[in-house]
Amino acid sequence: MFQLTEEHLAVREAARQFAQNELKPGVIERDSKMVYPTAEVRKMAELGFLGMMVSPEYGGGGMDTLSYVIAMEEISKIDNSCSVIMSVNNSLVCWGIETFGTEEQKRKYLPKLATGEWIGSFCLSEPEAGSDATSQRTTAVDMGDHYLVNGTKNWITNGGTSKVHLVIAQTNPEKGHRGINALIVETDWAGVTIGAKEDKLGIRSSDTHTIMYTDVKVPKENRIGDDGFGFKFAMKTLSGGRIGIASQALGIAAGALELSVAYSKEREAFGKPISQHQAIAFKIADMATDVEAARLMVYRAALLKDQGGDYDQAAAMAKLFASDAAMRHTVEAVQIHGGYGFVKEYHVERLMRDAKITQIYEGTSEIQKVVISRNVLNGNLYI
Ligand code: CAA
Repeated sequence: MFQLTEEHLAVREAARQFAQNELKPGVIERDSKMVYPTAEVRKMAELGFLGMMVSPEYGGGGMDTLSYVIAMEEISKIDNSCSVIMSVNNSLVCWGIETFGTEEQKRKYLPKLATGEWIGSFCLSEPEAGSDATSQRTTAVDMGDHYLVNGTKNWITNGGTSKVHLVIAQTNPEKGHRGINALIVETDWAGVTIGAKEDKLGIRSSDTHTIMYTDVKVPKENRIGDDGFGFKFAMKTLSGGRIGIASQALGIAAGALELSVAYSKEREAFGKPISQHQAIAFKIADMATDVEAARLMVYRAALLKDQGGDYDQAAAMAKLFASDAAMRHTVEAVQIHGGYGFVKEYHVERLMRDAKITQIYEGTSEIQKVVISRNVLNGNLYI
């Protein structure tokens, strides 16, 4: 099933070369000083990594989801600030507009977003509504020809740099999730305020901000889908986003494995390379097995999406498994490296810090279990 084509292999090679040659040299400093990767994002745009799945008609690469997850894995082995920027732009913003937007919205926004001239953000989470996405307080009041948006969103990836926000807001609270709308908001419109950049444990050079909306006038033509479609838009879009984050987690685990293999063959203790001690070799075996399993789950979810199947459950399972594997094995990678694992120069401590967010954003591990258990209990024992 997963016979990679020449094109997939070329994507993997291009992403690997880019990550190793252009991301790795400055990644420790960018992470340490929380420096946004401006030049690196520009290069990702030039290489076509910011709009990989967007149709060429709208300026994208026209590639399949498998190509995208392959690229995400390679970039995530090195720089997860860059890969989250890439993931949000590709799977949430571009995909959301291309799949559910009007022809006018696609023509207006996709060419800029797919080429990286503009970056986008997905604005759902709020100070008091993260996992419980229906209980948000941001309002989009229907004023006839426009909506008036008021509220605060937080943990917004690309929040300091994005030009386009997909804002999920409540129009008819009495209708519950059916009263929610998704709106395309341009950040230079009056009333959009960008809060301070968060000082985070991991993915430190990506720009995560709180965003405030005060009486922002959003034309009706910027609503995605019919009135009240916003919650379903968010859920469907997040499902694809979870495949992106699962591939990020896969890349983190695979990166930790590669670093651990190299280090354990080089480092000697008790007269031989530590890879020759079973205590280390067995850790490597467990890591490699989980990386392989995670890769199969991520590829399977990507294929289901490309084939038009229902991928919600597969995406949730891939994210749950890959993010837990990333967390577990980056801790082990630090252990294999001993004291060297505890310092920045050896890269594994950064991967360990980055792994944690994959268990939190685009739905925590617990949310993935909600999605999976509902599907399984409804009879979907096989995906
Ligand atoms: N596709 C289409 N429709 C869906 C859907 C999906 N995947 N999931 C749910 N729906 C529909 C349901 O069918 C239902 O519609 P009907 O009533 O018409 O049948 C409606 O949506 C409500 O569904 P639920 O009753 O299941 O909703 P719920 O309130 O129980 O919530 C949840 C379900 C899974 C917990 C959901 O709230 C959720 O996923 N929460 C997590 C949110 C999240 O991932 N936040 C991350 C923020 S974004 C981010 O992190 C981006 C970033 O910057 C990196």
